[in-house]
Amino acid sequence: MERNRWYKDMVFYQVWPRSFKDGDGDGMGDLLGVYEKLDYIKSLGCDGIWFSPIYPSPGADGGYDIADYMDIAPEFGGMEAFKKVLEGAHQRGMKIVMDLVVNHTSDEHEWFQKSRQRIEPYTDYYIWRPAREDGKLPNNWDSFFEGKAWQWDDVRGEYYLHLFAVKQPDLNMDNPLVREEVKKILRFWLDMGVDGFREDVITYISKKEGLPDDHIMPASKGMTHYNHGPHVHEYLQEFKEEVLDHYDCFTIAEAPLVSPKKALEYIDEEQGQLDMMIQFQCVSADCFLSDYYPMKFSLRRMKKAFSDWQYKLENKAWNSLYIENHDHPRIVSRYGSEAFQKESAKMLAAMYLFQKGTPFVYQGQEIGMTNWRPDSIEKYRDVQTIWNYHNTALNKTEEQRLQRQWRSARDSARTPVQWSDEKNAGFTTAETPWIEVNENYTQINVAQQEADPDSVLNFYRKAIALRKKLRCVRHGVYQEYFHASDKLYMYSMTEESQKILVVCSFSDQETKFPTPKDFDMDKAQLILCNYPDPKKNTLHPYECKVYLWK
Ligand code: NOJ
Repeated sequence: MERNRWYKDMVFYQVWPRSFKDGDGDGMGDLLGVYEKLDYIKSLGCDGIWFSPIYPSPGADGGYDIADYMDIAPEFGGMEAFKKVLEGAHQRGMKIVMDLVVNHTSDEHEWFQKSRQRIEPYTDYYIWRPAREDGKLPNNWDSFFEGKAWQWDDVRGEYYLHLFAVKQPDLNMDNPLVREEVKKILRFWLDMGVDGFREDVITYISKKEGLPDDHIMPASKGMTHYNHGPHVHEYLQEFKEEVLDHYDCFTIAEAPLVSPKKALEYIDEEQGQLDMMIQFQCVSADCFLSDYYPMKFSLRRMKKAFSDWQYKLENKAWNSLYIENHDHPRIVSRYGSEAFQKESAKMLAAMYLFQKGTPFVYQGQEIGMTNWRPDSIEKYRDVQTIWNYHNTALNKTEEQRLQRQWRSARDSARTPVQWSDEKNAGFTTAETPWIEVNENYTQINVAQQEADPDSVLNFYRKAIALRKKLRCVRHGVYQEYFHASDKLYMYSMTEESQKILVVCSFSDQETKFPTPKDFDMDKAQLILCNYPDPKKNTLHPYECKVYLWK
């Protein structure tokens, strides 16, 4: 039976719960806060919410270190609050997507506690290895967050593998019992009524047999042997056939270092095991491998990323579209301009919202939040940032070392959503929020933007509403123009007689506006623009225009 792929008509909003809205006044965001804001999320035109993890967790990696997969953290309001949010969302016709994090657990998960004591059946739930004969680590792999990927455990007398933080031991997915656990987790949430899963680093779950040294990767050593590992498709197929196919749900896979061609092995609509993919190329136009290796922003690199995915998935698979999430600094501070905060935030919205795929909007993106720049490392909360600060660039000055974090840290985009110009940006009634509020909250906040018809927030609403009306966005074909330009990004979406042209300037100067051949601009209707006085042949700094022919 042909699936009703309803997610193709939707726009999702990502909630990173710690910083969204504090409902109970303890300084940390929670589900009560989300419940209060369901109408707000809906008012953006969003049809669903993806929740970054809300399970019980010691919080070593912002909740991506899960201690119990079948419960909701008490600090977020527990299961009762979750059910209220789920019901409230469904009543409003909105979907709920959970984060499925099964490459690793928390070291405080019961499975790990039993595994380290060799209590059956948990003994082989994780990837344990003795030291090498020469006393060295089991292999040369790196973790992403805290040095090498191996941690010695005194209880068990062996090393365990952790591709992320020390407190995030990797599960042994080759063990059929672990895969049964994953299926149980999936069924548990689906039976409760959730509508889909965002699958965390899912391409890492199968490690190459023998865990050989990696002599290829220049950094993040090991990736050669676990990204798209030997059994990944087999395991994903098992989850699909045994569970996912029996529910009306969808999946979106997070996949670092994946090309569109490789992605098709996972998300081809005929043969894939998953529905969409979160690729990283679109957020790598100003860095190499990860935000921690910054480079100058290259518009051509960004355009190539978006275009490649549009062209190569056409007719075969469905794109997910995003420019921000909890793992990357704020997009205005990266691809846009803080000096043109309002203009560039709107331009970046138009830049991706009219492409083919399912868009995701990350909390705060819709008001154009910018990077946080704390004056001391003590203020950071993210494990990756803290490790990097203390272990890299030690020969640089304090200021240079902090600047590096401002540019690269995930916390740059994890400060509380700026709801108003009240104390703590209206995020919490507590004296002190769990992480500092960005000091620009008096200028950039939801309340002020609600009242301003010309705000970034209202631009998002307009753009999303337009997107939903245009058949050519959902059903059309993408074409890019002037790809060599380092100032303009221009593309069209065409479906039979309906066509749009999206024009975006990435320049802080006035720029010439050439029109592509075959576009009769006299017949075009300008349906969206971020300036009140658009000109015919020139673009203002960071101007965007969307033209329609019908
Ligand atoms: C990807 C998540 O998005 C990120 O926040 C997390 O730290 C890692 N996976 C590990 O779970």
